[in-house]
Amino acid sequence: MRVEDIRVIGVVGAGVMGHGIAQVAARTGYEVIMVDVSEEVLKKAMELIESGPFGLRRLVEKGKMSEDEVKAIMSKIKPSTSLKDLKDADFVIEAVTEKADLKKRIFAELDKICKPETILASNTSAIMISDLATAVERKDRFIGMHWFNPAPVMKLIEVVRGALTSDETFNLTVELSKKMGKIPIEAGDGPGFFTTRFINSWLVEAIRLFEIGIGGIKEIDEMCKLAFGFPMGPFELMDLIGLDTMLHIAEYMYEETKEKHYAPPNTLKKLVLSGYLGKKPGSRGGWYDFYGIEK
Ligand SMILES: NC(=O)c1ccc[n+]([C@@H]2O[C@H](COP(=O)([O-])OP(=O)(O)OC[C@H]3O[C@@H](n4cnc5c(N)ncnc54)[C@H](O)[C@@H]3O)[C@@H](O)[C@H]2O)c1
Repeated sequence: MRVEDIRVIGVVGAGVMGHGIAQVAARTGYEVIMVDVSEEVLKKAMELIESGPFGLRRLVEKGKMSEDEVKAIMSKIKPSTSLKDLKDADFVIEAVTEKADLKKRIFAELDKICKPETILASNTSAIMISDLATAVERKDRFIGMHWFNPAPVMKLIEVVRGALTSDETFNLTVELSKKMGKIPIEAGDGPGFFTTRFINSWLVEAIRLFEIGIGGIKEIDEMCKLAFGFPMGPFELMDLIGLDTMLHIAEYMYEETKEKHYAPPNTLKKLVLSGYLGKKPGSRGGWYDFYGIEK
């Protein structure tokens, strides 16, 4: 398959990442089928694509898009609760919860539902692509396509080959990423690849420094911005990522590497268990809300 042959893109999971990826794909001109478990999640995702903080209407307000264009893009996205609707997709990007068993179950189903030539890609932040590929027969047409949050804004796509990913699949994923206005960079297949392995260390370290009283949440965020020029501090970034996703990643990184500095600190577990999942639908808030800190 060549990149020009791609017409329909499937996105599985319409959460923080999935809805943003669907938005970018539809804006590029693709027909998009966006699958999640419930009508309610899909409705929220469609609302965010249209009117969320990184949604299309924001571009209308800035004079960069017309109302008609918004309507045309929205009409390209078909929400669905059935994976079977992906039978005609040419390229499928999975963005469900960061759990290996769940992802493998979905990929095994997609392998049966999708056309033989369809490429299956995972947006996992950390799980090894060679491991997820064990769920499918089409290991040559399986790849890691790691987007960043918010998907409509962030430029990088970390492209990760599994042990058996073909050059054709890799090249096509690179071309598709470019077509969608992104900058693809290859990283090796290991837990967390490059970006997650790197960032998980310093996010976990920020929590530990808070736990032992070296700095408060707001102070650590401010110090990172003022000292290092970071656009946001580690606690703000964790709220954006989603604390449940952050916890799944840290658990996986520790399990795979047995390196203590990746292990999730207790405070992170406490927030997630209490329903503080950061800035995402259904969450009670993030670090600042749990500790009652004024921003
Ligand atoms: N949040 C980030 O900053 C970020 C950045 C890059 C990559 N990722 C990765 O993207 C993936 C999704 O993360 P997220 O932040 O969007 O999580 P999220 O919790 O916001 O969304 C996950 C979605 O998956 C859906 N889902 C669960 N089981 C499903 C099933 N069986 N079928 C269909 N949908 C199902 C959930 O209903 C939910 O809407 C994860 O692998 C994560 O590691 C996250």
